[in-house]
Amino acid sequence: MKHIVANAAVKEVKSEMILGLGSGSTAALMIRSLADEIRSGKLKNITGVATSFQSEVLAMELNIPLIDLASVSQIDLAIDGADEVDPRFQLIKGGGACHVREKLVASKSNKLLIVVDETKLVQSLNKSFPLPVEVLPSAWKQVKEIISEMDGDSSLRMATKKAGPVVTDQGNLILDVLFNDGIKNPKEMEMKINNIPGVLENGLFVDLADKVLVGRIKNNVPIVYTPSVSS
Ligand code: 5RP
Repeated sequence: MKHIVANAAVKEVKSEMILGLGSGSTAALMIRSLADEIRSGKLKNITGVATSFQSEVLAMELNIPLIDLASVSQIDLAIDGADEVDPRFQLIKGGGACHVREKLVASKSNKLLIVVDETKLVQSLNKSFPLPVEVLPSAWKQVKEIISEMDGDSSLRMATKKAGPVVTDQGNLILDVLFNDGIKNPKEMEMKINNIPGVLENGLFVDLADKVLVGRIKNNVPIVYTPSVSS
């Protein structure tokens, strides 16, 4: 499912575009497919803006030209994955701890295209996937306590193959937060959390996604469809 949706996303790319390169396994497949199109000459003069160290390294390995986020005034299209997508296309991102740069790139993009498999579609956010919150290392305990007063249960994300916590591309830590009632008002919650001292950014992407491509298996055949946004 991830493969077909990643390939379908690349069909939306046009030559000469400045393109936001998302993070995660689906976005990585999209970057590989993009590199194939560039190599074959179907796409020309593409410049990528990486959303993470992961996408930067991958794009460099595949010879996709890159430019710094600070050097562009706008991005034509960003293609990225998501951890949860609700019927209004509000998202939770940050499963790969890259949501700070992902949100910066999305905010500078004329269009944000989200690529997911069907398992990511939910009726309501944060019922099962914890909201990633990037915090200054010295502030994690204090932020955890404040989130607990907001009815949120948070845990420090721990690394695998390294002792101790996950350290983000910016050198910070991640709290993964499940609110007892889920997140009913993503816009309000996004602002409330970002207002806590020591919080850099949270993984709620509100009113940023323009289009969602969903991969699913129907009668044993993988298909891609575009759900319409609920008002
Ligand atoms: C990284 C992200 C990813 O886009 C999100 O976690 C989805 O990843 P995957 O495509 O591997 O399921 O937000 O911070």
